[in-house]
Amino acid sequence: MDNFSYCTPTKYVFGRGAELHAAEELKSLGLRNVLVCYGGGSVVRSGLLQRVLATLDEAGIKHVELGGIQPNPTDPKVREGIAIGRAEGIDGLLAVGGGSVIDTAKAIAAGVPYDGDFWDFWAGKATIRTALPVGVVLTIPAAGSEGSGNSVITLLDGMHKISLRTDFWLRPKFALMNPELTFTLPPEQTAAGIADMMAHIFERYFSLTESTEVTDRVAEGVLMAIMEEAPKVMADPSDYQARANIMWSGTLAHNGICGTGRREDWVSHAMEHEISAVYGVTHGAGLAVVFPAWMTFMAEHRPQRGAQLARRVLGVVPTGSDRDDALEGVARLRSFFSSLGLPVTMAQLGVDQPDIDLLVSKLHENKGERFGGYYEITPEVSAAIYRLAI
Ligand code: NZQ
Ligand code: ZN
Repeated sequence: MDNFSYCTPTKYVFGRGAELHAAEELKSLGLRNVLVCYGGGSVVRSGLLQRVLATLDEAGIKHVELGGIQPNPTDPKVREGIAIGRAEGIDGLLAVGGGSVIDTAKAIAAGVPYDGDFWDFWAGKATIRTALPVGVVLTIPAAGSEGSGNSVITLLDGMHKISLRTDFWLRPKFALMNPELTFTLPPEQTAAGIADMMAHIFERYFSLTESTEVTDRVAEGVLMAIMEEAPKVMADPSDYQARANIMWSGTLAHNGICGTGRREDWVSHAMEHEISAVYGVTHGAGLAVVFPAWMTFMAEHRPQRGAQLARRVLGVVPTGSDRDDALEGVARLRSFFSSLGLPVTMAQLGVDQPDIDLLVSKLHENKGERFGGYYEITPEVSAAIYRLAI
């Protein structure tokens, strides 16, 4: 096990009515004037936004709204939010939505107090030294941004989708998580969220660090719980208990607990981010295609972790060959994703003829010539994996 320091300063308020704690949590942080961020309208249609704003009005917390944040959020919305935030003198943000809304709020939180262009942080030209506090009302278990220190934004100029990772500054101060708010999710978003949270665990599970038995078992336990609960939420979107288990899994998958003490990988995410940047697909659906392709390559070149995952989580009976066990695990994972209605090929994702040269060149432009925590990814390797995804 590697040395590590692990701090999750997010307060989670979980269960029915959790969203009604918004004003109380903002007040406890001393916030009096917030920018409320939301997406394309689901929270307006469900009445959630009005319900949350009413609690702020009642508590005398000033607010201004920024709606219309799209999935795979882009820099213009962040710039718009920074301008509003400065003009209104906000002291914090409340994100009501999923990863796209939360990530935009985080970027605005970093950008408002910064003298330069917020993209400097995403481009690696500057380091965040301060940020406004962000609170979250979560409406979709998927990206795990409610507990992560990350924010993923696409720069429209060149379609660069970049994940900025921080240990502290971009972690939300609180997350209000009511599983009932997820009842209205379309099935494809529920399924994509499940693929995304599983992928967040895989990225940490495929590691070369040895003797991480506790972290392995935590990760395996959460994966097994997700796979047990997933068919229930697909069959009955209003199953509160199943929704609750999936919602909490999404947070545990990505708040760092499944990665403690080891080096992580994150290659499949980087490869998927190029697909969602170029083709506008849903991130979790893209991962359902990319991850099994990456795992197939690894079964041939570095099969040990895939074999362990296959045996411990996917019910594969050991054959004596790590490669064969790992490949059987990939087959089972693909069939699990398919059972949720997820795509497992690029064509099913709606990308009939992916431009692999473009994806590879953007990937290595953003990540460097060689990268990867579990297996070194060169342009030849990434091209081979993209081909396996076809
Ligand atoms: O925009 P609205 O109308 O709200 O609709 C959204 C959106 O169309 C809809 N939705 C959300 N909650 C709903 C709902 N519809 C009905 N009922 C509800 N309760 O779902 C759609 C997807 O929303 P989005 O916020 O995009 O989903 P998600 O949470 O999957 O976020 C995806 C983004 O997060 C990034 C992804 O790359 C992508 O840009 N990620 C962020 C991470 C992080 N910050 O730590 C890590 C992840 O790996 C990921 O990369
Ligand atoms: Zn993800």
